[in-house]
Amino acid sequence: MRKPLIAGNWKMHFSVPEGLEYALQLRREVERYADTVDVVILPPALMLWEIANALRGCPIEVGAQNAAWEDQGPFTGEISPKMLAGWCHYLLIGHSERRQLFNETDEELNRKLQAALRHQLKVILAVGETLEEYEAGRTEEVITRQLSAAVYGVQLRLPTDLSIAYEPVWAIGTGKAATPGYANTTMGLIRLLLGKSFAGLASEMRILYGGSVTPANTRNLMEQPEIDGALVGGASLKSPDFTQIIQATAEVVQSQRV
Ligand code: 13P
Repeated sequence: MRKPLIAGNWKMHFSVPEGLEYALQLRREVERYADTVDVVILPPALMLWEIANALRGCPIEVGAQNAAWEDQGPFTGEISPKMLAGWCHYLLIGHSERRQLFNETDEELNRKLQAALRHQLKVILAVGETLEEYEAGRTEEVITRQLSAAVYGVQLRLPTDLSIAYEPVWAIGTGKAATPGYANTTMGLIRLLLGKSFAGLASEMRILYGGSVTPANTRNLMEQPEIDGALVGGASLKSPDFTQIIQATAEVVQSQRV
């Protein structure tokens, strides 16, 4: 059985002292679920090092929200996977905000994925259709394009090297999560696609759902067979909500074990 992964994407929130204090609070509240659920927080790059140090030795892992495809060079404003190597565990790439607001392309994401894997970062690749694409019935086409382009030529060592976050863009920050059934069906397609590129590993790779995940809808989502966790935005900024999402996930795992 795949161990669920709950990832908190802080986006562009918190000052450095606020982020640090919050990370330490989460450490106290969330550590107890670590045997059943993997937890990662994705703070802004500015506070990542400080928070990684504060959480050293604790099962909560940290990740970056973005990184470049080169190790170093004239890339003003960027950070590289090489800078993250050895102390930062995860890297999120392909979030729809990066695709839409910063014009990231599938080809760039392929380069970012290769660069991150070279530095042993565990990658969470986000994919998802816009509202317009959803309404036009183009979800399958869009997901197939995004995923196939991003993983083109990529080799994995372990199933945990790469997780996919399925985030329908229309569900992000809208309070309108996808229904568990719809999410599960699309994530089944994602697993089929993973099987084409990573035969032998796909059944062990984690696929997360993202988009208006809350304590109230976590259980129903996590009960779906293809949903192996969540990429949480707004609700990851409040410790009671984020803790409840992790707790509900742990409870689903426990109920499936008996
Ligand atoms: P919300 O949970 O706020 O909808 O955000 C989802 C998201 O974008 C996580 O990456």
